[in-house]
Amino acid sequence: MYFIFLLSQYSIFVTGQLENDTIKLFSDRMCDPACTFMNKTLTKSNIDKFPNNCTTVCADFEILWFSELSEDKLRNAFKNMKHLIGNVHISETRIVKCDFLAGLESIDTDTNSFRIFEKEYFPEIGEITIRNNENMTELNLSSLATLNCTTLDISENGRLEKIDISKLQNLTRNGPKMYYMSPGVGIILAYLSPKFCIKFDEMEHFLSIENGDFSLIYANYCTPVLEDNICTKPEANCTRFFGDLIIGPNFTDQEKLRSLVSIFGRLVINGSDFENLNFLENLIYIAPLGWGNTNYTHIKYNNSKSYAVQILNNAKLEDYYFPALKRVRSDSKLAVTIKNNNEELLYNSKSCEKLENALIKEYIQVDGKYCSNIGTYEYLRDQRRMKRLIVFCGVGVAILIIFLIVLYCCCKKEK
Ligand SMILES: *[C@@H]1O[C@H](CO)[C@@H](O)[C@H](O)[C@H]1NC(C)=O
Ligand SMILES: *[C@@H]1O[C@H](CO)[C@@H](O)[C@H](O)[C@H]1NC(C)=O
Ligand SMILES: *[C@@H]1O[C@H](CO)[C@@H](O)[C@H](O)[C@H]1NC(C)=O
Ligand SMILES: *[C@@H]1O[C@H](CO)[C@@H](O)[C@H](O)[C@H]1NC(C)=O
Ligand SMILES: *[C@@H]1O[C@H](CO)[C@@H](O)[C@H](O)[C@H]1NC(C)=O
Ligand SMILES: *[C@@H]1O[C@H](CO)[C@@H](O)[C@H](O)[C@H]1NC(C)=O
Ligand SMILES: *[C@@H]1O[C@H](CO)[C@@H](O)[C@H](O)[C@H]1NC(C)=O
Ligand SMILES: *[C@@H]1O[C@H](CO)[C@@H](O)[C@H](O)[C@H]1NC(C)=O
Ligand SMILES: *[C@@H]1O[C@H](CO)[C@@H](O)[C@H](O)[C@H]1NC(C)=O
Ligand SMILES: *[C@@H]1O[C@H](CO)[C@@H](O)[C@H](O)[C@H]1NC(C)=O
Ligand SMILES: *[C@@H]1O[C@H](CO)[C@@H](O)[C@H](O)[C@H]1NC(C)=O
Ligand SMILES: *[C@@H]1O[C@H](CO)[C@@H](O)[C@H](O)[C@H]1NC(C)=O
Repeated sequence: MYFIFLLSQYSIFVTGQLENDTIKLFSDRMCDPACTFMNKTLTKSNIDKFPNNCTTVCADFEILWFSELSEDKLRNAFKNMKHLIGNVHISETRIVKCDFLAGLESIDTDTNSFRIFEKEYFPEIGEITIRNNENMTELNLSSLATLNCTTLDISENGRLEKIDISKLQNLTRNGPKMYYMSPGVGIILAYLSPKFCIKFDEMEHFLSIENGDFSLIYANYCTPVLEDNICTKPEANCTRFFGDLIIGPNFTDQEKLRSLVSIFGRLVINGSDFENLNFLENLIYIAPLGWGNTNYTHIKYNNSKSYAVQILNNAKLEDYYFPALKRVRSDSKLAVTIKNNNEELLYNSKSCEKLENALIKEYIQVDGKYCSNIGTYEYLRDQRRMKRLIVFCGVGVAILIIFLIVLYCCCKKEK
């Protein structure tokens, strides 16, 4: 039996606790009242009311510094919960080992879109946050596969060094969609322990998730181990390159790059005499990481540094399409820059669109112009060319006519 929440009925005792949007979410998702938790903050005085025998739980809860809940209490409360409808915030707690959500498989959140947007208070929209827990060292979300939210924010937990979100797969972004917001679900991993690192497998897995936005990972890659099959300079049959791959004027190792699938660093092609990039025929992922950072104030957005792909000064380049490239991860909004190459590329909107369409959610700029601008330039140039052609043909025809007239006159005279 499902229970349909009536807003007016609930507003009487809900004020100051769950928000109206949350009640609406519970109603929309047809929550079972026996599996619904009606408080916002989980504390030692209400945790016994948490529906700990349900696999699907409706709850929009936060665990805060004054919750005073032992890890055992939390494990018991969440032991059967596989699907959560509502948000979770775990903030400023004393939790050390956060493993009580290890069984959780999906989270379907409340978006709070309009109300919060009106107040320009969007950090909380559809967010799942685990933030500012100064003594947390481990976070186990090893079953979590499905998210319907705007962001999963795991940040500012200065001792957190082990995070398992390896099952993440099925992401849907809800909430408001503004041009300055990511169209994907933001996965934020930032300001964690300096010992926290991203494994190469993990990054490849992340980048295979179409609706994820992984631009807000401020961490480094883990030191490669043998099983990672990493190379750091061009080597035949190597599939994973770690570091910035810089292809300069005298580069002759392109045959050794044919096998490359992932570059865990930037790709810079600067001053080469390549006509196309077909030798990178297996390259699917480009994902530099590595901002030196410890806190929000320390971060500097430096586009010139963070472009993940830079194609510069290649005088003979006719096409910058990569046959297999699907995903470029970058710290900056713009991941790819193409500058000062063969002049033809300034007018080649097809090349631009082909690359842009092949990539998931990235825009391309060629000498500061987006593909659509290049289209306009191409059109204007073609018009100019057409005019010139018309003038040229006109002059040609006129000369031909004069020639014919002269010829005709001469022939007549001779007769
Ligand atoms: C929640 O709903 C009640 C009843 O519909 C309304 O009186 C109240 O203003 C709403 N609260 C907010 C924050 O919108
Ligand atoms: C918890 O919610 C109930 C109603 O569901 C309310 O009566 C109670 O005051 C709330 N307690 C806290 C601590 O918010
Ligand atoms: C969970 O337990 C409570 C109280 O023990 C009970 O009322 C409720 O029906 C149970 N829910 C389910 C889904 O078994
Ligand atoms: C974190 O641990 C330190 C050292 O054990 C302790 O002094 C501090 O109060 C703890 N912080 C929190 C929020 O529990
Ligand atoms: C995370 O939790 C699961 C389920 O409890 C467990 O099997 C797994 O070993 C845990 N992972 C780590 C790294 O502790
Ligand atoms: C995600 O959440 C939004 C807003 O609550 C809802 O409209 C949508 O149906 C949900 N999508 C999925 C796949 O759960
Ligand atoms: C993905 O999530 C949607 C709802 O959010 C669910 O209906 C679907 O079964 C999930 N797919 C997989 C493969 O888990
Ligand atoms: C690369 O692989 C090919 C085919 O598998 C093999 O013939 C060749 O010896 C390998 N080269 C190196 C340097 O391992
Ligand atoms: C490339 O080779 C040319 C001629 O062999 C040399 O003059 C030039 O310095 C080299 N450039 C670089 C960057 O190594
Ligand atoms: C590209 O090459 C030019 C000339 O060698 C050099 O001045 C410039 O710094 C290089 N740019 C990048 C981003 O490597
Ligand atoms: C942020 O980190 C930088 C570099 O580690 C440090 O110099 C600065 O003091 C930190 N700022 C705050 C507010 O902690
Ligand atoms: C960005 O990085 C480049 C190269 O590392 C540096 O020259 C420039 O000053 C930086 N700009 C800012 C605003 O930090």
